[in-house]
Amino acid sequence: MSHISTVTVAGSSWQESDAGLIAVGVYKDQSLTPLAQEVDKAIGGLITQGINLKDIKGKIGQSHFFYAEGKMISVLGLGQRDKVDSNSIRLAAGAAARAAISRKVRSVAVECFCSGLDSCQPMGEGLVLGSYQFLDYKTKDEENFELDSAAVIGCDSDEIAKGTEIAKAVCFSRDLANHPGNVTTPTRLADAAREISDEAGMNLTVFDRKEFTEMGMGGLAGVAQGTDEPPKFIILEYFGTDKEKQPKVLVGKGLTFDAGGISIKPASKMDEMKYDMCGSATVLGVFKAMAALKPKINVVGIVPSTENLVGAKAYKPGDILTAYNGKTIEVLNTDAEGRLILADGLSYACKHYEPEFILDFATLTGAVLVALGHIATGIMGTDDELVNRVKKSSENVGEKVWEFPLWPEFCKQIQSKIADVKNIGAPRQAGTIAGGAFLKEFVDENIPWVHFDIAGTAWGVKPDSCNPKGSATGVAIRLVLDLLGV
Ligand code: BES
Ligand code: MN
Ligand code: ZN
Repeated sequence: MSHISTVTVAGSSWQESDAGLIAVGVYKDQSLTPLAQEVDKAIGGLITQGINLKDIKGKIGQSHFFYAEGKMISVLGLGQRDKVDSNSIRLAAGAAARAAISRKVRSVAVECFCSGLDSCQPMGEGLVLGSYQFLDYKTKDEENFELDSAAVIGCDSDEIAKGTEIAKAVCFSRDLANHPGNVTTPTRLADAAREISDEAGMNLTVFDRKEFTEMGMGGLAGVAQGTDEPPKFIILEYFGTDKEKQPKVLVGKGLTFDAGGISIKPASKMDEMKYDMCGSATVLGVFKAMAALKPKINVVGIVPSTENLVGAKAYKPGDILTAYNGKTIEVLNTDAEGRLILADGLSYACKHYEPEFILDFATLTGAVLVALGHIATGIMGTDDELVNRVKKSSENVGEKVWEFPLWPEFCKQIQSKIADVKNIGAPRQAGTIAGGAFLKEFVDENIPWVHFDIAGTAWGVKPDSCNPKGSATGVAIRLVLDLLGV
């Protein structure tokens, strides 16, 4: 794990700051932020020269280095002045952290770019997200440079602290997912849930193979037949308000390695299937943030977790499993395993809680990548109001979602000839919707529910200052926290 863990608010002027790098801003209309103007004066107008020479353009993502008062100065492009929003501020703050790391400077101080925005939170988020690196397996010192500290000059400290905690939760989730399958096992996910619950006095329950099998979780038990790595069914309860109040339930796919089972996957890129637990990382990330921020809401997190391998006892195409809600499932492809373990997770939520609503997160289908690339998360649900709330939060935090229809025609495609449902839809058609249609069978009709297919957005996205190359993203944590009003 490598990222800064606090962002301080500095009242001092940039000359008095002990940071090795000071980040200031320039807009596309060539105007400088207040601190950039001060620095420009101190260095005899060098920044203005760069602008006049049309080298400094103020574009988002652009940065230029200067030197003053024995420090490095980074002039960051902020884009169009009238289009500055929380996303561009988050990216600019991330760029400041990345600039320091790229120049091997241990401490950075950034001007508050948030004036005109309702909150400084994205500054805190960006600095922490930008400082994130996954270095755990790099043993050479020269590859291990880390940022130690960050300060903001002139931001609101409560909002910065909130942004910092949320981004740390995202980094926590990224770490869980970036570790390989031999480290992030179901046991490790249960341990992570334990760490979180200890932090804030949450309730944690973990069922092992024998327990959840006897309880009737045939989906998880079926998928887990092919692995010796102990599977887990993890339940985290956070009560931040009156216990009588209906909880919101989050369910996450915790498939710590997906080889496809007997319907085995091709070898190419199979290593990426260590990321098949990113849905659970989203859920645990939300709980990590709640442990720090202690919102006055009730939330339950449910993570069914196992590997999907090809052991001698592995479940087979044609097998029929009985899920926790009693419905029978004909397994026609053992690689459509996520929906089988989620069937038990969703049924458990409906039976044991009276959820106000349920959200589930899963790297469920390769098909969502065909439809939306690495750009947007596919969503579908049973309640327009909840779907609209998801869309609103998506816009608020800059994490794109796109809704697919759960029309009856699609829902018919997962009906089985010999069992209640089958685990695949029509061959090569609407695969993402088939996944959603299957899950819908395990959510009671009166409970609002939205499914997030994050297979395209949980990793592999175009890198930017807040998302390093080759890392899990921690997608949807910020969206869910916004939706929960945290
Ligand atoms: N974890 C995969 C989905 C996936 C594939 C995510 C590629 C990211 C990249 C999931 O368990 C899976 O294998 N789904 C199958 C379903 C199919 C057999 C109906 C798929 O998408 O091919
Ligand atoms: Mn699979
Ligand atoms: Zn999978």
